[in-house]
This record gives sequence, C-alpha cells and structure tokens, in this order.
Amino acid sequence: MKTHNTARYILILAAILIGCLGPAVCSAEAKKGLLVYASGYGSTIEIAYWIKAIIGIEQTLDVKKFDQVITVAPYDYVIIGRNAKQETPSPSVYKFVETYQQDLAKKQLCYFLGCGDWDETMLLKVPGREVHQIAGRNYLYDIQEKFPAIKPVVIGGFGGRQVMPSLQGMDKLQIWLLERLAKEGCAWVGLDIWESLVPERVEAFANEVRAKVLGLPVLDNVQQFRGFWNSLQPGSLQEPSKQKYTVRPYTVQTSTEKIFFSRSRIRGDLEAAVKMLSEWAQQECCALQEQRKTFFNVYYRPVKNISGNDMVIHVVPGTMPDDPGNVHVSFRSYDKPDVRKPLEEAIGKAEQMLWADGRKVEGR
Ligand SMILES: Cc1cc2nc3c(=O)[nH]c(=O)nc-3n(C[C@H](O)[C@H](O)[C@H](O)COP(=O)(O)O)c2cc1C
Repeated sequence: MKTHNTARYILILAAILIGCLGPAVCSAEAKKGLLVYASGYGSTIEIAYWIKAIIGIEQTLDVKKFDQVITVAPYDYVIIGRNAKQETPSPSVYKFVETYQQDLAKKQLCYFLGCGDWDETMLLKVPGREVHQIAGRNYLYDIQEKFPAIKPVVIGGFGGRQVMPSLQGMDKLQIWLLERLAKEGCAWVGLDIWESLVPERVEAFANEVRAKVLGLPVLDNVQQFRGFWNSLQPGSLQEPSKQKYTVRPYTVQTSTEKIFFSRSRIRGDLEAAVKMLSEWAQQECCALQEQRKTFFNVYYRPVKNISGNDMVIHVVPGTMPDDPGNVHVSFRSYDKPDVRKPLEEAIGKAEQMLWADGRKVEGR
C-alpha cells in the first residue's frame, strides 16, 4: 500500500514539473525572428510575406517596416530585406544595421534584396565610373565590408518587379537614362510592368533560412507559395500578349560597336572553373588579376598586351542558387571592334577549355 502511494506521489510531482517547465522548455527552443524591410513601390513587401509563408506561419517571425522597430533584443534571428537602388540596398539598411550593430552581431542575420538584375556575372560600364560588378548578391558586398562583425548566415538577390507608369520623377529619369547607357540593352523596354524576379531564388533563400537558422527540413513543395508573386496584370496595356518576364538565356554572345560579350555555363563548381581560367591566363601570358572574391563569384581583369597596348578582358565566373551544380562564366571587352579581335580570340580559347569534355550545359 505504501509503495503504491509513493508511486502516485512521484507521478503527480512529475506531472506538476512537466506542467511548469514544459512551456518554458518549448519556448526556449522555438527561435523568434524579425523580418524587417523597406520597399519603394511595394514588391519587396510581397517578397517579405512570401518568405514568411515558406518559413512557416506557425513560426514566430514578425514582419515589420524599418520605422516600426525600436529594438531587436527580443529576437534570435533577423532578416533584413530591401529593394536595390543606385546599386546598393539603400541608406535605410545601413542606418538600421549601424543603429543595432552591437545586438545584431550576436544574432543570426540574413540579408535579401529585390533588384532589377539577378545575373551576378554582370558588370556595368557607365561614364565617369570604372567598370564594376552589379546585380543580385553583389550589392550586398559593401555592407558586409562596412560591418565585418555582422556575418550573415544567408544572403539572397532575387531580381524584382518594376511598374513603369508608377515611377516618380527622378526615378523615371534614372530608369530612362539606364536604358540609354546599358551596353547590353535593357529588358524592360516597351513594357508597363517588367519582372526579373527568379522565384527559385526566393524559395532557395527561405529554405536556407529554414535549414540553417531554424534547423527545419527544407520544403520540397515550396512552389505552392508562388501566389505571393504571380499576378494577372499584363506586361503591357497596349499589347497584352507581351510577357512581364522573359526568361533570359544563360548562353549569350553579343558583338556590337560598344561591347564583345560572351556568357555560358558549365558543369562543375567555382573552384574548378577558376583553376581552368588560371591555366588559360597563363597560356595567354597574363595573370588573372583578381578584383573581388566572394563565396559565389570572382571578378578578374586579365590584361593582354597587343602591339604595345595593354587591353583588358573582364571575366566573372559565378554560381547561382537557382542553378545548382553549374558555374556561369561571362567575358567582356569594351574595346572597339577593330582593335579587340585578339581579345575575342583569347576569349574563344578560354571557352573551348571550359566547355571541353562535355562540360558545357546546353539549353537556355
Ligand atoms: C530609381 C530606381 C533605381 C533602381 N536602381 C537599381 C539598381 O541600381 N540595381 C538594380 O538591380 N535594380 C535597381 N532598381 C530596380 C528595383 O530594385 C526593383 O525594381 C525592385 O524590385 C523594386 O522593389 P520595390 O517595388 O519594393 O520598390 C531600381 C529601380 C528604380 C525605380
């Protein structure tokens, strides 16, 4: 009888302990997140709620504008999202990171950007500036340099959406200017709404947050959330058959008065591509000359001396989250067609080397 009673007391005590500690233990395990964003014309807001849906509405993830936040202290992780403007995530992101940098350095942090161009092998040459890298995650390089104590766990650059009739005065002018200056042409010409967003990138980003920050399994059926982006608006009111988004080819060769541009993709990883490019550069009697290196791409400027003149080839190999297992490599010469022939031949040799042994990935 006595043993029976003791067992009952132990059971009751255990139940009380579980009752008291259970929720505390559970809530200690569930991470609390903040997704903080700003958006010029609204598409970054759509992306923010899309990411929240993939992470899971059962997760604690507050979605707030920058000026709704007075502290980041209650959160275990913070996702910062913004539309790109003038080739940066714009000043509000810098201000937010500066304000909360001590707290943020102790938390898991992720950055994402909505932007006009997703192709991280892109370069831009405009009057008054050196040739430089643009697009996608390239825009997040500077903020990581400025705040080295804050090391993001996941970064994303997705492409985005632009509704031409909504653009305000100076914005309209800037976009108009870019149309005229871009050496490789602008995809939005003739459209009211233009989209460059790569949905697989948003999905890969949110799944990476699930796995790396929250320790959750990645979602295989992640496409079920595309309703956050798909819409019935036509690309052009004058000509509704025009698509908002035309999938840009990965394999391109363009030769105009302004540029020789060649881009393709090969099976393999960044390290293997860089090794082949180094061999090619040695054979062409020039060093690769690294300009900038990240975990997903490298920008090189090998210089070839032709008839006493130093001429630059711009080379960018890079990997893309939406095309795993492949490396994309772009080559550019901005010299005039009559003098750049030897550079075009050198680029041809590099591509022969990269594409050999069935490495070239055809299609698109
Ligand atoms: C004035 C202006 C400047 C822009 N500058 C860039 C830029 O430098 N690089 C880029 O990739 N996209 C640029 N974009 C494209 C936007 O980042 C893209 O359309 C984004 O999806 C807009 O998001 P939002 O609707 O939240 O403002 C620019 C757009 C505008 C209107």
